[in-house]
Amino acid sequence: MISQFPSMLTTNPEPKVVAGPSGIAGTGLFAAADFEPDDHVIEYVGERIGKEESDRRCEAQNPYIFNIDEQWDLDGNIDGNPARFINHCCDPNCEAEQDDDGRIYIKARKPLRKGEELTFNYGYDLVDWEDHVCNCGAANCLGYMVAVEHIETIKAKLAEKDATAGTALAKVESAPE
Ligand SMILES: C[S@@+](CC[C@H](N)C(=O)[O-])C[C@H]1O[C@@H](n2cnc3c(N)ncnc32)[C@H](O)[C@@H]1O
Ligand SMILES: [Zn+2]
Repeated sequence: MISQFPSMLTTNPEPKVVAGPSGIAGTGLFAAADFEPDDHVIEYVGERIGKEESDRRCEAQNPYIFNIDEQWDLDGNIDGNPARFINHCCDPNCEAEQDDDGRIYIKARKPLRKGEELTFNYGYDLVDWEDHVCNCGAANCLGYMVAVEHIETIKAKLAEKDATAGTALAKVESAPE
């Protein structure tokens, strides 16, 4: 595989973050300093891999694969990448930005205070969305981890499911004994 990019991207010399137990899922990443909106928090680094290799690693349950573009992904499952512990949230306080070289930067969306858990929206598509149950605890939590552009679709699907379940229940209740 020929890439115009280096295959292993590593920076993050002294990130102002710390990993620890999360109320959302497993290990999370927490601010070790205050940040203001738009501040750079940390780069998501790792090994640049092609889609075939990425599929193989996803199937092997590697949850740290970041989609870069139609050709490349970034496997963040390396020691020098604390950003891999950032959990998803439906009301995230950070966002992931990509530059022209495919590098991924996590920046603050809101004022962040030291100790706060860092989150961003994983941007998942609708494939197997019901398997991606969200435990973020945000007031607006959708219950599933999907990209912002899919939220209304999922809300409509969930409303449809509720309506179908309601109709079925009404039928059972009105059936003669
Ligand atoms: C990139 S890892 C995040 C770090 C992870 N908590 C850990 O301990 O390694 C992504 C995985 O964390 C879990 N996760 C992240 N955000 C979540 C959320 N909002 N609700 C439920 N599980 C979440 C899911 O298992 C997901 O596949
Ligand atoms: Zn949520």
